[in-house]
Amino acid sequence: MSTLKDKFQDLDKRNSEALLGGGKERLEKQHSAGKLTARERLAILLDPGSFVEIDKLVKHRCSDFGMENNKITGDGVVSGHGKIDGRLVFVFAQDFTVFGGTLSGANEGKILKVMEMAMRMGAPIIGLNDSGGARIQEGVQSLAGYADIFHMNVKASGVIPQISAILGPCAGGAVYSPALTDFIAMTKESSYMFVTGPDVIKAVTHETVTKEELGGAMTHNSKSGVAHLMGDTEEKTLMIIRELVGFLPPNNMEDPPFKPAMDDPNREDEHLQSLVPDDPNKPYDMMSIIESVVDNHNFLEIMPHYAKNIITGFGRLGGKTVGIVANQPAFLAGVLDINSSVKGARFVRFCDAFNIPLISLVDVPGFLPGIYQEFGGIIKHGAKLLYAFSEATVPKITVITRKAYGGAYCVMTSKHIGADVNFAYPTAEIAVMGPEGAVNIVFRNRSDEEKAGAVEEYRETFANPYKAAELGYIDEVIYPRETRKKLITALDMTQNKSVSGPPRKHGNIPL
Ligand code: HXC
Repeated sequence: MSTLKDKFQDLDKRNSEALLGGGKERLEKQHSAGKLTARERLAILLDPGSFVEIDKLVKHRCSDFGMENNKITGDGVVSGHGKIDGRLVFVFAQDFTVFGGTLSGANEGKILKVMEMAMRMGAPIIGLNDSGGARIQEGVQSLAGYADIFHMNVKASGVIPQISAILGPCAGGAVYSPALTDFIAMTKESSYMFVTGPDVIKAVTHETVTKEELGGAMTHNSKSGVAHLMGDTEEKTLMIIRELVGFLPPNNMEDPPFKPAMDDPNREDEHLQSLVPDDPNKPYDMMSIIESVVDNHNFLEIMPHYAKNIITGFGRLGGKTVGIVANQPAFLAGVLDINSSVKGARFVRFCDAFNIPLISLVDVPGFLPGIYQEFGGIIKHGAKLLYAFSEATVPKITVITRKAYGGAYCVMTSKHIGADVNFAYPTAEIAVMGPEGAVNIVFRNRSDEEKAGAVEEYRETFANPYKAAELGYIDEVIYPRETRKKLITALDMTQNKSVSGPPRKHGNIPL
């Protein structure tokens, strides 16, 4: 009969086995590939000493291909809960040293358990992905495992924030769980995502492409728009996730955390007075306004490398998290095109789902003309942004800094689609279109000289904020230097906003 001491030793042995993952050799291989192990990653992501592991002793149940003799404690996923800045989060980290971090029936159960717990406890779920995909030895069970996870991702969508880090391979159908989450962060040159890899592509379409070009961090952050954030190293990627979590509420029933700032809410910025150039066709950097107004100039940009004509990201105003959506006149004149509309729409919907007020900074010449935009469906993609802003019931505050032309005026949180407070700078131009375009239509047959005069007249009459202010579409024309103070006051005023619509199952956003 075993003694008490034997029993404790047995437990020690089992725990130590689990800590070893796939064994010393594979751990070294992981390091020599420039990657951290699942446990090292969790140690960086979570507050020191806060990780509580669940299901450490799970083993797989497969008996094909000799797998019955090859069971590794923990089975390739480390899961549990911990804290980020003292706030609860649930986590799972695929352990590439155990069967390449592949999904089995057993470790699927571990992932589902923490996802389900995260929903029950109302806390974010963060998945660290590093996996060869479906565990081949388990066949369809592994596919079922993925489908179960997808289903849970969808159930959790809009209930708790879901965040994915891609820290190694993520291929085949496995990409769809991260794709269903709210944010994907990748690491430069050590992570990749694709539905089919370079070899399959070569065989099917005869295209030659490297793994990095096809599905690396920069590709998905700048070209495909699949990923939202990127770190140069794994440590940086994980630190970005910590920063992101700091802006978010734990679930859809709570407000984002209040973080009192030492930054004066009445702080003015003289530099903003001259930021918008006299010449309406000259670009300026909208980021200067954002960084000027947010608390401590601290702004976390989401998708900074994709569709740069729109800026999306989180900041705080008077300690409260806000989601900022801003046209960027310094890139493609801040025009709305397919990619910027989709980028903006997804961000707006996230903010609305999680009680994050929206601030729109508007300088938009309109929707981008062109056959590729029309063939690509700018009508339906532009409608996504319109739908998202219209549908959002969180506080919506708008500042028109310069151009707000045509349909883009309506879309960018105009009063008419439910904005609560609409400001404009004296430099704002709110009209159906720019002076030159308008004169070319209305005075098509006039001489150049007459047209030049008409442009001036149009500019004086329409290209300003005062027509809209006369109609009450703009609540106040403000001095640029007081933007921060005005936004914070408006945010305070809207904090108990409540809106309800007619009952329905869900709307039908033009996907
Ligand atoms: C079982 C796998 C595996 C898999 C890798 N391994 N992929 N075991 N099932 N799918 C094991 C390897 O045998 C090896 O075990 C260990 O993981 C590390 O793999 P290596 O090949 O040595 O590592 P590396 O050279 O870094 O290459 C990593 C890799 C490659 C690029 C991921 O292993 C690979 O291409 N694997 C196959 C990927 C794949 O096709 N998966 C199925 C996709 S379809 P040892 O014991 O030697 O350490 C899919 C369907 C999902 O996932 C559908 C959802 C709807």
